[in-house]
Amino acid sequence: MTAQRPLKVSSAPAGLAGRVRVPGDKSISHRALMFAALAEGRTHISGLLEGDDVLRTAEAMRALGAKVVREEGRWIVDGCGVDGLKEPADVLDMGNSGTAARLLSGVLATHPFMSIMTGDASLRSRPMGRVSVPLGEMGARFVTRAGQKLPMAVEGTGKGKPLHYRLPVASAQVKSAILLAGLNCEGETVVEEPAPTRDHTENMLRHFGTEVKVEELPGAGRRITLKGPARLVAQDVLVPGDPSSAAFPVVAALLVPGSEIVVEAVGQNPLRTGLFKTLKEMGASLEVRDERIEGGEVIGDLHVRAGRLKAVDVPAVRVPSMIDEYPVLAVACAFAEGTSRLRGLAELRVKESDRLAATVALLEANGAKVHVEGDDLIIEGQKTLPGGGKVQTHMDHRLAMSATVLGLAAEKPVHIDDTAFIETSFPGFVSLMNGLGAGLEA
Ligand code: S3P
Repeated sequence: MTAQRPLKVSSAPAGLAGRVRVPGDKSISHRALMFAALAEGRTHISGLLEGDDVLRTAEAMRALGAKVVREEGRWIVDGCGVDGLKEPADVLDMGNSGTAARLLSGVLATHPFMSIMTGDASLRSRPMGRVSVPLGEMGARFVTRAGQKLPMAVEGTGKGKPLHYRLPVASAQVKSAILLAGLNCEGETVVEEPAPTRDHTENMLRHFGTEVKVEELPGAGRRITLKGPARLVAQDVLVPGDPSSAAFPVVAALLVPGSEIVVEAVGQNPLRTGLFKTLKEMGASLEVRDERIEGGEVIGDLHVRAGRLKAVDVPAVRVPSMIDEYPVLAVACAFAEGTSRLRGLAELRVKESDRLAATVALLEANGAKVHVEGDDLIIEGQKTLPGGGKVQTHMDHRLAMSATVLGLAAEKPVHIDDTAFIETSFPGFVSLMNGLGAGLEA
C-alpha cells in the first residue's frame, strides 16, 4: 500500500448533483477471478473492480498457474480446472482483503500442494480459524500464527472429504470457502447458514454450469448442497456496480442539503440491499428505477434526494444484507431525528478494523451522542453535527469513506488520518465525489 494520505473534509459547498457509476462489485469480482481460474476454458470479465483487494486475487490466481490478463478494459482468464492449479513459487500476499484470503483458503484446501498466505497488518490481525477449522475437516492441514492469524501455511489435500457444516456465524466468506473446497471432493458438501448471506458464490456456481441446491430451513436459515467433484465451464461475467460502494455517495446525497444525484447500474441482489431498505424506513427519498438484468444480475439506477431522516431500529436478522454498510448508516443515524438502534453487530468487531469501536470513535470525535449496549449500537440523532474531529481509520477503507461523508455534512472540517486504503474497494472515490460537487481537497 502507498504512503499515508490524510484528508481534510469540509462541508460540501452546495448540494451534490449529477449522475455517476461506482466501480464493480468487490464480492463478485473476487469470485469471478477465482471461478474463472478453476474453470475449463477462457472467461472474459467486464466491469471487474480494479481495486487493490481484487488485484491481489488476480495476482494470486496467476501465481497458482491461471493465465490472467487485462486487455482493452476486459479481463481474460484461462482456467486450469477445479483440481488443476499449481504450487505457487512464493508467498501469496492478499493485502487488505479478508474475502480474498478466506475464499482462496477453500480453493487451496483441496489442491495437493503447500502454499503460504499473508496480508497487511489489518488482515494479519483477523481470525482465520473460521475457515481453517472446517477446511481442516475436509483433509487440509493449516499452520497459523497464534490466535489463528496469518501468515498461514496450507497443505492441501488432493480430493477432499466432503463436509456437512453448520456455520457458527452467518458469513458468506466461510460458506464460500467450504463450497469452493467442495468442488474437488467426492460427494455432497453441505453448508447450513443461520441466516441468509450474500449468494454470489451459489449464483456463480450455477453460471459456470454446476448444480447447487438451496433449501430454506425453519427459521431464517438456508442449506446449500453441492455435489463434487464438479466441473466448471468458462463463462463470460459482467460485474454490476457495488451496492456497498454506492452506499457512500447515496448517504452523502441524503445528508447534504439540496443534493439530487443518480447512481447508475447498481447491483440489486436482495441479500445486499439492506442499507437501501433501512434508509427508506428512515424516510429517505431513495428510489430504484429502471431495474433490468445484465449479465445475470439485477441492477437498477438509484435516484436520491436530500431530506431529513428519522431514526430507525434495525433488526439483527438484517445484518448479513448490509454487514459492510453499518459505519455509513451510523453516520446517517447521527443526523436523523430521534434515537436509532442498530442490533446484533458482533461481527463488526472482526472486519478490516474493529468497526464497532472505530465507528463509535468516528461519531464521538465529531460531536455525536452514541454508545454500545452489548452488540447493539445506539445513536442519538441531531439536526447537525459539530464535526471538527480527528478520525483514525485503522487501515479500513469503509471508515475512511464514512468519515468523508460525515465531513461533507458536518459544520467544522473533519481530519482523516489516512484515505489511502480507499483504493482497496473504491478507486477514484475522491474524484467521483468531486464530480458531484463535494469539493474535496486531495
Ligand atoms: C464478503 C462477505 C462479508 C463482507 C465482505 C465481503 C464476501 O464478510 O463483510 O466485505 O464477498 O463474501 P463475512 O461473510 O465474513 O461477513
